[in-house]
Amino acid sequence: MIRKYTFGAPLPTDAVIQNLLAEKDSLPYFTVRYGEDGSVILSLPLHPEEVLFGLGQAVRGIDKRGHRYESWNSDVFNHTEERPSLYGSHNLLVFFSPDRLLGLYLDDPGKIIWDLGWEKHDEAVITSLSGNLDVYLIEEESLTGIARAFRQLTGRSYLPPRWAFGYIQSRWGYASEEEVRTVVNEHRKRHIPLDGVCLDIDYMVDFKNFTWKPDAFPDLKRFQDEMKADHLRLVPIIDAGIKVEEGYAPYDTGKAGDCFCKKEDGSDFVAAVWPGRCCFPDFLREDVRRWFGDLYRPLLEAGIEGFWNDMNEPALFYSDEGVADAFAAADKIRAGGVDYETTWWLKDVFSGMANSMDDYRRFYHLVDGKPVRHDLVHNLYGAGMTRATAEGFRRFSPDKRLLLFSRSSFIGAHRNGGIWQGDNFSWWSHLKMALQMLPSLNLCGFLFTGCDLGGFGCNVTEDLLERFLQLGVFTPLMRNHSALHTRDQEIYRFSIWETMRDTVSVRYALLPYLYSEFMKAALRDEMLFRPLAFDYSADQRAIHIQDQLMLGEDCMIAPVYEQNAAGRYVYLPEDMLFIRFRSAQDYDLQPLEKGDHWIDLALGEFPLFVKKNRAVPLCPGGESSELLDDTTFTLLGQIEQEGTLSLYRDDGTTTDPDLESSLTRIPLVPDKFLSRIVNA
Ligand code: GLC
Repeated sequence: MIRKYTFGAPLPTDAVIQNLLAEKDSLPYFTVRYGEDGSVILSLPLHPEEVLFGLGQAVRGIDKRGHRYESWNSDVFNHTEERPSLYGSHNLLVFFSPDRLLGLYLDDPGKIIWDLGWEKHDEAVITSLSGNLDVYLIEEESLTGIARAFRQLTGRSYLPPRWAFGYIQSRWGYASEEEVRTVVNEHRKRHIPLDGVCLDIDYMVDFKNFTWKPDAFPDLKRFQDEMKADHLRLVPIIDAGIKVEEGYAPYDTGKAGDCFCKKEDGSDFVAAVWPGRCCFPDFLREDVRRWFGDLYRPLLEAGIEGFWNDMNEPALFYSDEGVADAFAAADKIRAGGVDYETTWWLKDVFSGMANSMDDYRRFYHLVDGKPVRHDLVHNLYGAGMTRATAEGFRRFSPDKRLLLFSRSSFIGAHRNGGIWQGDNFSWWSHLKMALQMLPSLNLCGFLFTGCDLGGFGCNVTEDLLERFLQLGVFTPLMRNHSALHTRDQEIYRFSIWETMRDTVSVRYALLPYLYSEFMKAALRDEMLFRPLAFDYSADQRAIHIQDQLMLGEDCMIAPVYEQNAAGRYVYLPEDMLFIRFRSAQDYDLQPLEKGDHWIDLALGEFPLFVKKNRAVPLCPGGESSELLDDTTFTLLGQIEQEGTLSLYRDDGTTTDPDLESSLTRIPLVPDKFLSRIVNA
């Protein structure tokens, strides 16, 4: 059951697709207070054992209790434990204790502060700064019931094409066809599977969206055709800002259509991003989304089938006004005399120029024809860009699914694209964080996701990349991406590249199965990754597990995320078959009983746990998702009772998938220790 309560005058967000009437009574369960600044404050005492799930993209554990988070989409480079917010705002929180099972969703495009046992461990205090919002209470019998009800409220998750489940190589810095060709060749000659290469901003002319360097990429169509002949896709980046430059078509047409966000005086708001001074499309307007979506057309016509949308919080490096204010503050400091305190302040003045609240208050959107200051709708910007792109895809590619993942997001964007987890570091703690973010994102509808494997910033070591890849084997987006000036991070750069190749080969052997589990979850409004509590909600040990996840219908994952670990402890909530993978052909099978186990996992080894009477199918493998044989499988399982494995298969691109008619039912016959070849 879902009930809606309205506070103030909420702005449209496009998050919710069900039209519910607001309740007349006051909001139950929560104490509601109104701040003098117009804010609305909801508070609720927490049970000593209460676990809090949700908030999608955020730092820290699966249980969000004990920190103060903010819904405020941020271009943040350093994802420390202290960070209140990352790139997306996903305002769903689920309270789970012996006394309570309650989902709370705040449909509010502005800033929200979530004090979840931070000030006081036994209290949640949630503040909507604008005070204009719809509050939804979701009550169901189970955690999975809440997840499903929320998805039905907000709509079906985005479906990527099947090739997007292949391994994708990316790096900020690939600047020419030749460089991309080398990367591809280095993979192909070593038989490291690969389905795509991302093009970062260096493919563009002066980092201008929808351009490509004529010398370095003389004929994008020919190049994409050449790649496709080798079963590979190019995935170019598109940023939010449009460079201010007369004669540059996207600027000229945007200007002609009056498409950019405005300052109070009616002039275009300008701030710098990679190309220098940019204007920002007002994605909240339908006509602007149409104009922007049309800009993808030449790239689609060149055969491009995937994009990543970036810098869409929006990231603002500085504005002219911000620079002037900073110099004025610096002059004041100089006049007053410099000491250690004022020099600290001086540094803050300049570093604070980027993504400043002052800038976010300097510009306006048009909502229903009326100007709305950006900070009140800030968290919708990335979702609006995703929507513009997806609407363009629907116009130009109505019959074929395309890949799209964005950095910034809001609930609702999960219908139009995936997200990646942003600029993580080559840190072991970020490997764990990536794992822990998966179920929270899935709960909020973002099924197609993954982190920058190996880490974006800092210098990766080969053991860390290998352990990252072992997590990536299971994440829908499996992309190795790294920043300019960091250590080269392609698999073939490392002495243990064969180990890494073998790890990626497991992904390809599992790809038809993982794709099937993804599609089933998406089409049934379910989560692909779940905290153990969702499946074993009466098991006190399982409820608090923070580093293992249920995957699809049959499996559990428990990656190693600590350096130099020779294995790890794992808790099995029921009897399971432990598969210790080394490659797609080389693995051990060991039935384990419910309970705690230490499992040895040397560097090239990683586990998958399969429930009793279930099986996972491994296909013979291949170097591209298009080359996989998804008709012959080795089934791995421990079967005591007859059953079936239902495998979803389609052409990988249909925009009109039908779950029931796409399921192949493979019989599972009793076999103590199954490793059986079947044809499907
Ligand atoms: C941003 C993106 C990163 C990209 C870089 C250059 O930092 O998050 O993935 O490589 O910009 O475009």
